[in-house]
Amino acid sequence: MLQIPVKGEGKEAVLQRIRDLQEGDVSWKEGRTWSMVYYIDEDHLQLITEAYGAYLSENFLNPFAFKGLRKMEEELIRMGVSLLNGDENSTGTMTSGGTESIFLAVYAYRQRARALHPRIKAPEMVAPASIHPAFDKACHLLGIKLRKAPLAKDFRADPRQMERLINSNTILLAASSPSYPHGLLDPIGSIAEIALRCGLPLHVDACIGGFMLPWVERLGASLPPWDFRVNGVTSMSADLHKFGYAAKGASLILYREPEYLKHQFYVATDWPGGIYASTTMLGTRPGGAVSAAWAAVMALGQEGYLKVAAEIMDGVQRLKTGLKEISDLEIIGDPVMNIVAFTTRHNQPDIFVVADQLEACGWVVDRQQSPHCLHLTLMRYNLPVLDQYMADLKDALDFARANPRAVSTGNAAMYGLMARIPFRGVVEKNVRRLFEELYNFSSAMLANDHADASAEDRSSLNPAPWIGKLNRFLTRWFAFKTWIKGRKIKE
Ligand SMILES: Cc1ncc(COP(=O)(O)O)c(C=O)c1O
Repeated sequence: MLQIPVKGEGKEAVLQRIRDLQEGDVSWKEGRTWSMVYYIDEDHLQLITEAYGAYLSENFLNPFAFKGLRKMEEELIRMGVSLLNGDENSTGTMTSGGTESIFLAVYAYRQRARALHPRIKAPEMVAPASIHPAFDKACHLLGIKLRKAPLAKDFRADPRQMERLINSNTILLAASSPSYPHGLLDPIGSIAEIALRCGLPLHVDACIGGFMLPWVERLGASLPPWDFRVNGVTSMSADLHKFGYAAKGASLILYREPEYLKHQFYVATDWPGGIYASTTMLGTRPGGAVSAAWAAVMALGQEGYLKVAAEIMDGVQRLKTGLKEISDLEIIGDPVMNIVAFTTRHNQPDIFVVADQLEACGWVVDRQQSPHCLHLTLMRYNLPVLDQYMADLKDALDFARANPRAVSTGNAAMYGLMARIPFRGVVEKNVRRLFEELYNFSSAMLANDHADASAEDRSSLNPAPWIGKLNRFLTRWFAFKTWIKGRKIKE
C-alpha cells in the first residue's frame, strides 16, 4: 500500500517530481492539442497564478467572511451580465465550471416548478440533441427526464422538433450559443418565442461562447441574437475558465431576474454544527478561482480580449479556407466562432482513418459521432502550427484515399470505434469498465506506479476481448460499406 512519505521530501524535490510527472502529459504548448487548455501567454499565466495564490487558502463558502472575494464575485457577475446584454435586474453567482452552472440552472428551475406547479410530479426538460452532456448529468441527478429533439439539417436545434416534445410536465427549455460539437448557434430567437408562448423558462448554454462571441461580433460578424437580447432567455451559463482565460474552476450562472436565482440557494437549519447555507453546489469554494478570474478580466480588459479574439478568428479564416480548398472535405454547418468540425464527403475516405494518420504525426485528435467528424477548437497556441496541420491533413487524406480498405486500429481509435458501435448500452458498459479499472488500485495495471505503467500494463484499460472483436468487425463493415459507396459514386 502506498503511504504518505514518513519524511517530507522538501520543496525542490517535490516540485521536480511534479515536473517529471508532467512529462507524461499532452504537450499542448506545442499546439498539437485542440481543446482543454485556454492559454494566452506566459505573462498572463503568471498573473493568474499569482492572483490565485493571493486567495489560495480562503474559503468562499461564506460570502460574508471574505469581503474581497465577495466584491470580486459581484463585479464578475455584473461585468458578465453586461457582456451578455442582461439588464440591471440580472444577477447570478460564480461557480466552479460549466457543469456546475448548468446543474444549478436545472436545479433552480426544478425548485421553481415545484413551488409554482406542484401538480408536476415527473418534471421534464427539452433540448436539442447537441446540448452538452452536463444537462444529461444534471437531469440524471435531479430526477428530470431530458427529452432531446433531433437536429435540423444544418445541425442546429430545430425549434419545431423541440416544440413537439413539450408537454404538461415540461419545466424548462435549453439551447446552445454555440453548441460544443459543431460550434453552431442554435436559433435562440425562435426557441425563445416557443418558450414565451408556452410560459417556459429558457436556458442558453454559452459556456464556451459567452466570453468569445461578444468579441466575434465586435470584430464585425453579424450573428442572430444569441444572448439576453432575446426576450424569453431567462438564464445563461458562461465559463470564465474557457475564453475568459481564467484559472480552471470559474464560470458564471446568470439569470435575467433574481426571481429565478433565489431557487438556487440551499439552507439547512437543524444541523448541530449550526446553520449551513450555500449559494451554489459546492461546500468549500476556492477563493483563488475567484481572484484569478477577476485578475484575468481586469488585466485583459475589452481591448485585450478583442486582440486575442482577432488573432484567433484570423486563424479560423485560414483554417476554413484551407478546409474548403480540399474537395473531399466538408465543414459541418456554418460555425460562428473558433470551433470547427469537419468530415469527408459521404465519409469517403474514412475520416477516422484520417484521424489515425494525424495521430501518428503527433496531433491530438478529437473524434465525434453523428456524423463522424473531427473537432477543432482553435486556440492561440495552435496558430503557429496551423499550416503544418493542414499539410499533415492533406497527407493523411492521401493515405486514406490510397488505402480505401484501411480500418482505424489500436487504442488510439477507441473513440472512433466506440462511435461506430450501434448499441449504446454496450458503449456505456465499456466506458464504465474503463473507469472501474482506472480506480481499481489492486488491478494489475496499477501494481506499478501510475507514471511508470508500461504500454502493456495500460492495455488492461482496453475493453473486454469480445468488444474488441465487435469493434473490429464493425469497423471493417463500415470500411466495406464506404468502399462500395465510393465505387458506386465513381460509376
Ligand atoms: C457548450 C458547453 N457547455 C458546457 C460545458 C461544460 O463545461 P465544464 O467542462 O467547464 O464543466 C462545455 C465544455 O466544454 C461546453 O462546451
